[in-house]
Amino acid sequence: MFNLAVFVSGRGSNLESILNYFSESSITVKVVISNKPDCYAVKLAAENNIECIFVGKAETPKFIDFERLIEKLKILKIDLIVLAGYLKKIPDEFIDQFPNKIINIHPALLPSFGGKGMYGANVHKAVFNSSAKVSGATVHFVNSSYDEGKIIAQRVIDISKVRSPEEIAEKVLKIEHELLPFVIKKFEEGKVQLLGSRVYLKN
Ligand code: GAR
Repeated sequence: MFNLAVFVSGRGSNLESILNYFSESSITVKVVISNKPDCYAVKLAAENNIECIFVGKAETPKFIDFERLIEKLKILKIDLIVLAGYLKKIPDEFIDQFPNKIINIHPALLPSFGGKGMYGANVHKAVFNSSAKVSGATVHFVNSSYDEGKIIAQRVIDISKVRSPEEIAEKVLKIEHELLPFVIKKFEEGKVQLLGSRVYLKN
């Protein structure tokens, strides 16, 4: 088994694509973690009988803190942590415990259009207003700065003819749903290699 922990904050379409893609495989979503107990992604996890953990700064009846979350994920023997639309910062203490095991999907071509406040619709508006002719999706390692970890994989789309940020969002989301499972599979196969300053995916 290759165990995933998936962090979510919203609609959960990337979580859904992971569940669909790996429904008949040894890759399994062992736990879903969220800062938003009432988001649609959490509902989706519950419908699929996946354990949900809510994480916040301080422990309250519903939430645990990141220190306890580290313990939980170690007990669950998580192989890869996937941020799929998780919109809060991950604390450094957490990142340090899982070196090269936390990845994020970003709805643009990093290193452009990333950083604090650059999530969801904000990203697509910025891309649209820049008049960029391509956009895409990026999967990268998570480090202590927003969207600055090493890039693992990207897909590019032509947006030269789009008329709105929403049109970009729709096109990008489609490729996100292919790119994230593709990268997760590469991790499971041990085909993600860090060599010097670059990340390579083996065939
Ligand atoms: C996705 O487009 C993802 O790339 C983006 O949030 C959306 C979540 O959608 N993430 C970021 O912007 C992170 N900076 P989903 O909940 O339907 O998967």
